[in-house]
Amino acid sequence: MSKQIGFNLFEMNCVGHISHGLWVHPENTRHRFNELEFWTEEAKLLEEGLFDAVFLADVIGAYDTYLDSVDTSLRESVQIPTNDPLLVIPAMAAVTKHLGFAATFSTTYEPPFAFARRASTLDHLTKGRFGWNIVTSYLPNAARNFGLAEEIEHDTRYEIADEFLDVVYKLWEGSWDEDAVIQDRVSRVYTDPSKVRYIEHVGEHFAVAGPHLVQPSPQRTPVLFQAGSSDAGRAFAAKHAEAIFVGGWDIESYRRNVADVRRRAVENGRDAHDVKAYAMAAVVVGRTREAAERKLEQLNALSRAEGYLAHLGGIGVDLASYPRSTKLSEIVAKERSAGRDKSVRSRFFDSEQTVGEALDRLTRLDRGPFFAVGTPTEVADAIEGWVRDTDLDGFNLQQLLTPGTAEDFIELVVPELQRRGLYRTRYAESTLRERLFGKGRSRLPGTHPGARYRGGANLGIEDVPTDLAGAR
Ligand SMILES: Cc1cc2nc3c(=O)[nH]c(=O)nc-3n(C[C@H](O)[C@H](O)[C@H](O)COP(=O)(O)O)c2cc1C
Repeated sequence: MSKQIGFNLFEMNCVGHISHGLWVHPENTRHRFNELEFWTEEAKLLEEGLFDAVFLADVIGAYDTYLDSVDTSLRESVQIPTNDPLLVIPAMAAVTKHLGFAATFSTTYEPPFAFARRASTLDHLTKGRFGWNIVTSYLPNAARNFGLAEEIEHDTRYEIADEFLDVVYKLWEGSWDEDAVIQDRVSRVYTDPSKVRYIEHVGEHFAVAGPHLVQPSPQRTPVLFQAGSSDAGRAFAAKHAEAIFVGGWDIESYRRNVADVRRRAVENGRDAHDVKAYAMAAVVVGRTREAAERKLEQLNALSRAEGYLAHLGGIGVDLASYPRSTKLSEIVAKERSAGRDKSVRSRFFDSEQTVGEALDRLTRLDRGPFFAVGTPTEVADAIEGWVRDTDLDGFNLQQLLTPGTAEDFIELVVPELQRRGLYRTRYAESTLRERLFGKGRSRLPGTHPGARYRGGANLGIEDVPTDLAGAR
């Protein structure tokens, strides 16, 4: 296999992202997430390890459906407290030259104009190393934080997202010409007004006049990440995303899902490899197999079912209050007969399991789909095998310990992958898009829907109602 495999560190500006209970490990420094140094130290480590990027997840509400309460999430630090992901990026950019930053922002609750500005600012400050993980948000509490009584229906959220993207493409790609800023001290012209335009977007969900307030940044549109798994989500990804997180439960389903995304991209007039495919990876590596297994044992002992139950939310029953030998099917029947319209539903459970089996499965860190424990050679074999068999382009590395997971990976696995020619030995490119797609590709390709607004084309400004045009 000749392809180089990309790795992002999966992060979140909080204590408990997806590895619940492990914050109590004596070597875990997650509680330092409020300190700027936590982020600058991490950024330097990842750049030493030649990572593609740090990938920052985000939510804009609390997980408060488990037992109809936020208490478990608070006790277990399940994505609360959590800080804004965008604000730590400039600090990390200041101590690195190459590391990319992909941060999550939702299209559902805040309108596009201010985000377009923040994203362009970050792309300038990072010199073209910014990526955006587009999400539509799934927490009922998030809706209530933004003035809605209930969540907006799932597919409608994707319709809104589609228009949100249209607006930001107009701002990023269409509002300013490349040579608009001339900074001519003699003629006293900073920006040539004939090269900047209003976008006059009027759609079903948004009305945005423009012009964009930020001059063109190195990538203009940040690298677009997305992780939809529903039909609407995959259709959205095939149209917009340049990097996607593929789901699945085994090699075969990952292979099918990667092929599906590539096929859909081609149906959208894009190249099959204009969409990079990533999976989640959990890795526990040691110099010997025994050392790795001992580490895993320690981590498994600290992992907490309550944290995962709060995270999964919506399961609706307090599994932990039942004896371990109770079958899930019995619980469902009992809940129903008590008139509670709740059921144990989650992809993690099958109703023939007992409570004990279900809770063990939830908390085990080796539950996969991609999990590797062992020596550097064994871990590299597993990574290489998966990439070969699924056509994946890379992984988001789940942190079990901070900074231990990344340190171990960089010290032990990276050199082994490098020996096999599967991992870069130096950074060759400067922007994040070039890192993913090759030198000279800092901008969206011409086949991407964002590119249609370049030079002010397709803005349809002449169709704008005169009262809106006149209002400016
Ligand atoms: C690797 C990965 C990271 C994700 N990060 C976030 C996130 O930070 N915030 C969020 O609201 N959703 C996140 N999601 C959820 C997805 O955006 C999406 O809602 C989910 O995969 C279900 O797909 P669907 O919305 O098409 O049904 C993530 C999903 C995956 C697989």
